[in-house]
Amino acid sequence: MPRYCYVNGQFAPHNEGAVHIEDRGYQFADGVYEVVTVADGRLVDEGPHLDRLERSLNELRMKMPMARKVLALKMRELMRLNGLRDGLVYMQVTRGVAPRNHAFPADSVPSSLVMTTKKMNFATMKKFTDGVSVISTPDMRWARCDIKTTSLLPNCLGKQAAVEAGAYEGWMITEDGMVTEGTSSNAWIINKDGALVTRPPGNEILNGITRQTILALAAEEGIPFEERAFSLEEAYEAREAFVSSATSFVTPVVKIDDKAIGNGKPGSLSERLLGYYKEYAAGLRTRAA
Ligand code: PDD
Repeated sequence: MPRYCYVNGQFAPHNEGAVHIEDRGYQFADGVYEVVTVADGRLVDEGPHLDRLERSLNELRMKMPMARKVLALKMRELMRLNGLRDGLVYMQVTRGVAPRNHAFPADSVPSSLVMTTKKMNFATMKKFTDGVSVISTPDMRWARCDIKTTSLLPNCLGKQAAVEAGAYEGWMITEDGMVTEGTSSNAWIINKDGALVTRPPGNEILNGITRQTILALAAEEGIPFEERAFSLEEAYEAREAFVSSATSFVTPVVKIDDKAIGNGKPGSLSERLLGYYKEYAAGLRTRAA
C-alpha cells in the first residue's frame, strides 16, 4: 500500500513530500509539532493535542494553519489514505518560507503544515512488559521547554547518548541535580509511600498530554500523587519509575544509570497505570478534563 504525507495543502506519496530550502523550519527550527497516537483507528486525546499545538503557536506568535475542524478532517484523510489503525500522526507547523533573516517575515507569509503517519503495533511492544533502562544526561536546553518546538538538538544529543549506552531514554538533569524530563518523554517515580511523583508543569518541561491523562486516571483510581521536582538521587532510591509519552504510554523503567529500580523488574503500580492508559487509549474509559 503506498504511503502518503500531507504537505501544504496536498497529499503526496511519502517519499516525494518536500518543503522549500528556505522554510524557516529547515533554517531556524522555527516551528512546532505534535505527535498524536492512533489506537484502533481513534486519535487519542486529539482535543488536548490540538489545544497544545495552538498554545505552542501562540507562544511563538504564529497562528493555527487552518481551522481546527479542517485540520481534524485532514488528519483523518491521511489516516484513511495510509490505512492507519495503530500508530501515530505527526504534524509540524513552521513560520513558512521567506528569504533568510532571523527576524520574522511579514504576517502575510503563510505557515507551512506537514503531516505524516507511522504504523506501530502497541500490542506487542516488549518495552511495556520488560521495562527499559534510562541514563542521566545534562539538561542543556533553553528557557521555554514548555513549547513543543522542533528545535530539539539538545534532546537529540541526550537521546543519542542513551542509545550509545544501550538505554531507551535519557533523563535530563539540571545543574543542581534535579530531573526535568526525558529527551522525548516525561519522567516519573513512585516513592516509598507509593505516591506518584512527577515534576509540575512550568517552563522547564513539556506538559505531556499523556502525563495529564495519567494524573487524571490516578486521581480517579485514588492513587496519591505529588507534582514536585525530584532529584536523580531520589530516583535511584525510588520504588518504581516510568516514562510517559504519546508513543511510550506508561513504559516501566527498571534501571537508571547503573542502579536497578526496585527489584529490577517493572513495578506493579506502573503496570496498573499502563493497563488504565491502554483502556483509555482504546476508548474503554474516559478521563476528567
Ligand atoms: N515527545 N517531554 C518531551 C521533551 C517530549 O518530546 C514529549 C513527547 C513529552 C511527552 O509528551 P506527550 O505525552 O504529549 O507525548 C515530554 C513526542 C512523543 C516526540 O517528540 O516524538
